[in-house]
Amino acid sequence: MHTYNTETDGLARSVIDYALARIRMDPPPLDRSRPSDELARTAGRTITEEGLGGQEALRIFGDVLAPATISVDHPRFLAFVPAAPTEAAVLADLVVGASSIYGGSWLEGAGAVHAENEALRVLADEIDMPATAGGVFVSGGTAGNLSALVAARDVALRDRGRPSGRWMVAASVEAHSSVRSAADVMDVDVLPVATGPDRRLTADALRAALAPLSDVDRAAVFAVVATAGTTNLGIVDDVDGVADVCAEAGLWLHVDGAYGGAAALVPEQRHLFAGCGRADSFIVDPHKWLFAPFDSCALLYRDPDVAVAAHAQKAGYLDVLAGERNPSDLAHHLTRRSRGIPLWFSLATHGLGAYREAVRAGLELAATTRDMVAGHPSLELIEPTGLSVVAFRRRGWDAAAHDEWSDRLLRRGLAFVTPTKVDDEPALRFCFVNPRTTRDDVELILSTLD
Ligand SMILES: Cc1ncc(COP(=O)(O)O)c(C=O)c1O
Repeated sequence: MHTYNTETDGLARSVIDYALARIRMDPPPLDRSRPSDELARTAGRTITEEGLGGQEALRIFGDVLAPATISVDHPRFLAFVPAAPTEAAVLADLVVGASSIYGGSWLEGAGAVHAENEALRVLADEIDMPATAGGVFVSGGTAGNLSALVAARDVALRDRGRPSGRWMVAASVEAHSSVRSAADVMDVDVLPVATGPDRRLTADALRAALAPLSDVDRAAVFAVVATAGTTNLGIVDDVDGVADVCAEAGLWLHVDGAYGGAAALVPEQRHLFAGCGRADSFIVDPHKWLFAPFDSCALLYRDPDVAVAAHAQKAGYLDVLAGERNPSDLAHHLTRRSRGIPLWFSLATHGLGAYREAVRAGLELAATTRDMVAGHPSLELIEPTGLSVVAFRRRGWDAAAHDEWSDRLLRRGLAFVTPTKVDDEPALRFCFVNPRTTRDDVELILSTLD
């Protein structure tokens, strides 16, 4: 198995040709999911005692498995938060895979960690975090939110000791589902903060949520999560106002910019992100709107030492790693892929200016689409939405009709647009992150709603 012979060489060429062919596709086929019994039948038994050989395994991947995965980088994939990695980032990912880098420690991965740290520094500068800030790339926003909140609770535990009530984290009702999931994993409660018609978490709303708490409960609140770009509607909270309340009340401020944080790169949008630089922790996912492949979340701490105190694993066999700030020490993980390298490589290749333009493209298409939806006789625009999200309803359709339309689009290979709910009512939602998505793509999709 561990030999590079002529057979391996042939396989290498086939795999690289396959990867290049996929990277060159513009657009790739949208494809769609298949039921597991159908896949079992068409793929057959693939893991056997003797092995199928690499060429056959690659054939099965290309002919059967890949077409059963939706291409997230298709320009009409507008569901959830799509991805649109640059060619440079995808190629760098291949290099990372080939390089057997242990990205957890400076001792083993210094070169890669240095490059990742430069990319993290650039992101910290974009949101005005101080020079002390630093962090690590983790697998995704869910892991980033969890690791940040674990650090926040650890600080509270050290400063105030264990509360007599249950630990609580305050978050707006619009915060991502991963915040509740992190709270569940940590066995802490979420203090929900209501939002007004603008759907933003504001200082006043946060004060109003904290005010009625008993002294016992108040002492158990250890962090506030603000969102810089909500998943459903793209709303950026009043982070600066929330930061004031956190400063007054001695609370850790975590900002979830997993989706929207990328828009801070666009100078005209920068004002929306005021206050992010005051956060104790901040996340943005390069695999969302910073054009990196899965999986990648940049997790930044104002003071990385507190994250080390919360997360560093200790054992005799790890003592040799001490003395450096290791990526492993900054989140709930130990071994890690150098998953920040594709972002670093693509930033180094294209420069920040190209990133600003590419993010701006999504914002502009969203603005154009809002106008198109508002002028469409059968559609009702949902307001407000922000950043690159557009939400709307088809007049006269119930939830089942929205679902059927979405299924039909995918079955026809035309687009992937999934329904959501806004105020418990069914709605449709576009999220634009792919600079290849055009006004024509949107027109094509909207024409199916006539
Ligand atoms: C605002 C926000 N936070 C967190 C997440 C979770 O990120 P991930 O899916 O990378 O775990 C998402 C995902 O869409 C998100 O939009």
